[in-house]
Formats: sequence, C-alpha cells, structure tokens
Amino acid sequence: MKVPMKSILVITPDKAVSQAIGAALGGDPAIKLDTKSSTLTQLNGQAVKFAQEHDFIIFDTDPGNEADIHAIEALAQNRRDGTILLALASGDISLADARKLTRAGVDEVLPYPITGAELTEQLERLGKKAVPETRSAPGRIGRVIAVAQARGGSGATTVALNLADALTGKSGFLHKADKHSVALVDFDLQFGTIGSALDLEEQDALLKLAQDGTVPDLRFLEQTMTKLPGGLNVLPAPSKFAPVDALRNDQVAAILDLLRQTNDYVVVDLPRALVSWVEPVIEEADELLIVTDLTVPSVRHARRLMDFFKTVNIGLTVTIVVNREGRPLMRTSVQKEAAAALDSKLEFWLPADDKAARAAVDQGKPLFSVASRSPLTKAIGQLAKAITKALPAAARVGAAK
Ligand SMILES: Nc1ncnc2c1ncn2[C@@H]1O[C@H](COP(=O)(O)OP(=O)(O)OP(=O)(O)O)[C@@H](O)[C@H]1O
Ligand SMILES: [Mg+2]
Repeated sequence: MKVPMKSILVITPDKAVSQAIGAALGGDPAIKLDTKSSTLTQLNGQAVKFAQEHDFIIFDTDPGNEADIHAIEALAQNRRDGTILLALASGDISLADARKLTRAGVDEVLPYPITGAELTEQLERLGKKAVPETRSAPGRIGRVIAVAQARGGSGATTVALNLADALTGKSGFLHKADKHSVALVDFDLQFGTIGSALDLEEQDALLKLAQDGTVPDLRFLEQTMTKLPGGLNVLPAPSKFAPVDALRNDQVAAILDLLRQTNDYVVVDLPRALVSWVEPVIEEADELLIVTDLTVPSVRHARRLMDFFKTVNIGLTVTIVVNREGRPLMRTSVQKEAAAALDSKLEFWLPADDKAARAAVDQGKPLFSVASRSPLTKAIGQLAKAITKALPAAARVGAAK
C-alpha cells in the first residue's frame, strides 16, 4: 500500500524547536517538512495561505499574547478542510491557557519539549482523522446566498450584511458550536455601500480586476478582502465609478468558486441591473433572497425577478424577505394577495427599526454590534438560523451541495 504523503509546516522563531522537530520527522519519506522561521503574528495573512497547503501546522505560541490568539483564529477559519493545527506550549501550561488555544481553533496542544516518538505518535493519531478528508476534498464547498432587491432602497444591503454577520455564529443566534467563516461580496458595483457600512478603507480591487481583465486567484482575494474579527471576510464594491458591465462571467465565477472553497457561506449583494455576469452568481446560488415591501409595484417586480432568475437556475430556492413590516398575527388581504402573487408562504418579516438601522450606519458596524437586542437584529438572526438549517455548512455534513 502506498503511504500517503503528509505535508507539515513548522512555524517558530526558535531554531532549537525547528531543529528538534526536523530531527524527529525529517527522516520520514512520507513526510514533507517545511519550516518558517517566524512567529505566527509576524507571518500575518501569509499564514492563512499556508493553511491551504499543509496537512499539519505546528507552531509555538504564547497563549497570553492576544495577537497570537487572533492569528490562530484566522488560521483556523481559513484552513483547508482537515488541516490540523498543533500548538507547542511549555509542559506546565495552565488548563485555562490550553483551553484558550483550543477555543481559538487549535486541534491539539502538545507539550514542549516533546520527544520524536511522541510527536510521530500524535501526528499519526491525528492524521488518521485528517488524511482521508484532505486527500479527497478540494476544500470546503460553501453555500452561496444571493440577495436581490425588489426596488431601490428596499433593504437588500442591510439584509446581506447583517445576515452574513449572523451566519458567522458569533452573535449567538445559531447553535453554540456553529462558528462559520463567511464571505460577504458587494457586487453592487456602482452603488455598493457595504464598504462604508462597515467603515472599511476604500479600495478598488473589483475595478482593477475589471480593468486588467484577469481571472482572480486565491492570493488576489486574500490580499484584497478585509477580514473582520469573528469570521467575516468582506469584498467591497469599488469606491471609484465602474461601468456596470465591467466584469466578465468567468471572473465572477472564479471569485465565487474560490470563496466557496474557503468559506462556509458566501453572501452576495447583487447589483440592481441584471447584467450578464449576474448569471454565474445565480447559477452557483443555493438560495436567492428577494428583499421587498408589499406595495403592488414591489411585489410585481419581485415576481418578475423570481421568474427571470429561475430561467437561469431552474432549481433555485427563492425566499421572499418582507422588510419594514413585522410578522403579522393575522394577515391582511394585501398580505394574502402578495403571498399568492409571490407563490410564497412569506415566512420572513423584518420590522421597521429606524433607530437601530440608523445607529448601525452611523457607527459603520453591523446591527448586532450596535443594537443586539433590537427586533430587526433578532429577525435577521432568525433568518440566519433558518438558512443554516436548510443549508447546513457543507464542511459539517461532509458533502458538496
Ligand atoms: N427594517 C428597516 N428598518 C429601518 N430602516 C431600514 C430597514 N431596512 C433598511 N433600512 C434602511 O434603509 C436604507 C436602505 O437600505 P439598504 O441600503 O439596505 O437598501 P438597498 O435595497 O440595498 O438599497 P440600494 O438600492 O441603495 O442598494 C438604509 O438607510 C437602511 O439603514
Ligand atoms: Mg444596496
């Protein structure tokens, strides 16, 4: 039987540590060993790239160092499925510190110094879990949720942003163990407001892509996306004017493919115009949300959108989100007619909440950070919960869509 090759990366500024591990594992032909002479924090975003390329990452760390903990969290959230994170810590590490490391995403805390035999044994034990997955799966297969609006200002961006935030699981709306890596893409090229709504630095990555005509790779996305604490990765719309047809279908498809490989959920804020490159988004979407009010023009437009998108993706699940109306106890005739026209049970209602919406915009933060208990925040949390139930993170069920 051919022994599968395992690739191991050791990150440590301490030569003695890397030499000891090298001596313990270097002779094994089934192991490919790389070393980076650096701390995790110094490697910064680069470490995330390495997490995509190795089966095991071994690093030494100080649990008291907050920057290190953040670096571990980023590594854990962005690792390829099955990549195992091993932290080396001095033998007398406290239980509280060890727990801090595992909470950040470390799979195992190994006492250091460690003998070669102990290390090999640990790798073998952990590798049994890891190897089959890493060899068969190219990565995660994140779920794509596209968000469209029935009219300008209907609340699509508010839903996309706060749904993405809730899907990370940090706000407590989901099951405790459900912590997800979520990408939020602002494809409203010309009028996108996600960057300002999250107070991000202005950038024109999507415009540059349009101008260069290149197909993006993982490195491009890693360099351009902003990672927020809690697992939200944001690709904002350009701050400068971009023609709405500036992107090509293959560029958009590549962005989604890459993001699906590295995130559990990819939430896309769609442009108002139905340009050709919206097609790959709809083709890849697991679910389309249409955010609307129940006025006659909005309901009609929502219906047209729904019918159009279903011609692109026949099996597409369309969910209507009624914004600025709380869930009614008894439905009025208008609400019943809207439900019939949209062929929808109208399960999701988001109440009007000017105060919370305004505070979020003013402070450049998601609703949960400024008004965690507001009815609007909670209603979006419920929407996130329903989505995770209908579309569990693929990594967890171990299957593609
Ligand atoms: N349920 C709500 N209660 C109160 N204000 C809301 C609600 N939903 C959205 N808003 C506010 O309405 C405005 C428009 O919302 P948003 O930008 O999300 O809509 P949109 O459909 O993306 O609009 P655009 O056409 O500009 O893309 C924003 O100021 C937002 O804060
Ligand atoms: Mg918008």
